[in-house]
Parts: sequence; C-alpha cells; structure tokens
Amino acid sequence: MTHLLHLDASARANSLSRELGADFVRAWRDAEPGGTYTYRDLAAEPTPFIDEGWTELCDAVLAAGVTDLDRLAELAVTPGAEAAWQVVRPLLAQVLAADVILIGTPMYNYSIPACLKAWLDQVTFPRMSLGERRFVVVSARGGAYSPGAPKAAFDYQERFLRDFFAGHFAVTDTVFVHAELANAVQDPNLAHLREAHEASLAAARSEVRSLAEEYAR
Ligand SMILES: Cc1cc2nc3c(=O)[nH]c(=O)nc-3n(C[C@H](O)[C@H](O)[C@H](O)COP(=O)(O)O)c2cc1C
Repeated sequence: MTHLLHLDASARANSLSRELGADFVRAWRDAEPGGTYTYRDLAAEPTPFIDEGWTELCDAVLAAGVTDLDRLAELAVTPGAEAAWQVVRPLLAQVLAADVILIGTPMYNYSIPACLKAWLDQVTFPRMSLGERRFVVVSARGGAYSPGAPKAAFDYQERFLRDFFAGHFAVTDTVFVHAELANAVQDPNLAHLREAHEASLAAARSEVRSLAEEYAR
C-alpha cells in the first residue's frame, strides 16, 4: 500500500497544473484503492518563510552532524529553534510518511512559485536523504522549453527541482510532465499556437495517468 503526498502551488484555482495533479490522483486511486493520501494547497495555505529560529535549528543539525531526522526535536534547544520545530515537524512528518510526492506547479518567472520554495526551505535539512521516495512534478508553463525550443535554456523550473532533489534529497529519478504553451489560450498574438498547446496538454494528461498507474504498484 502506498502513501501519496500531493502538493499544489498554482495561484489559480482553475489551473492546468492542478488539473494534471488531479488526473494523477484519480488514476492512482483507481489503481490502488487502498492507498492513503494527504493533500496541501501551498498557494491557499502557504507555509511561512523560514526565520532566524529555523536557522538556529539548522545550525544545530550541522554542528551535531545529525543525519537522522528523528533526532531534530532534541536539537531544538533555543526558544527560536523550538518555535521553528513546531512549524517544521508536521511538514516533515507528511514528507516522511509518503512513498510518492506529487507536486503540481506552474512555471513562474522561469522557475517555481515562492510558495513552493517556502515549503522546500522549511522541510530541507543538511545531509537528509529521501532516497527511497519518488517525486513526480506536473507543471504548466506559458511558453515552450522542451529540448530544441528557443527558450529551452531558460527552464530553471525543471532544472532547479531536478538538481535540488538529487543534491539535497538523493532522489535522482524525479519524473517531470509539462503542459506547455499555455499562454496561447489567453494571448491573441499566440493564437496560432493553441493547437500545439492542446496537443501538449493532451499528451501530458495521458502521460500523467500512465505514471500514476505505474507508481501505484
Ligand atoms: C506570475 C507569473 C509568472 C509567469 N512566468 C512565466 C514564465 O517565466 N515562463 C512561462 O512560460 N510562463 C510563465 N507564466 C505563465 C504560466 O506558467 C502559465 O499561465 C501556466 O498555465 C500556469 O500554471 P497553472 O495553469 O497551473 O496556474 C507565468 C504566469 C504567472 C502568473
């Protein structure tokens, strides 16, 4: 039985990345009816930015050379670090309980929304490994960044998350699914790209459903 943690990060309620995430969850539930599920909408219910107390906790982790996340609580010895731990504890518990972590995110300014970065800052501690967990990122972007696209080199969304998960969490097999050219829907100057957007979205929805079936096993 797998446990799925699902995060959304779009500022829009009617959002393509939310739609892709919902597709994944529907297919995953069909494939694994006994699986368990936790959801957090990081845009509607953002985590706070890390504060000085959080850095005190992080410094204590570094100084003690602790890699066992279960030992973080005993390092929260200053009032600031203790307050930070109260924020971190439930967030980290959700991550540690998950086998699969599904992140629905838009591309904002070539990267990820601030609410997703704020969550990552909260749950990331030095030398922690989430190696046995699997990450799936479903995203929407206004333009096109696939290999060969003129702006492919501007994709700091996938590159950041891929490198971050590998470098900080020792997770090297993160899967990314993107619906591209979303701006063609709103921008009359991009009307000629609407068909290409629809094709990208349809391909992403199909890929997401297959992935969910695979990850439910
Ligand atoms: C604040 C903001 C910044 C954006 N920056 C980019 C960008 O740098 N590159 C891009 O291709 N699209 C950009 N877009 C377009 C979004 O990626 C696009 O609307 C996408 O569909 C958003 O995902 P969602 O539908 O899940 O909200 C931006 C949109 C917003 C609101």
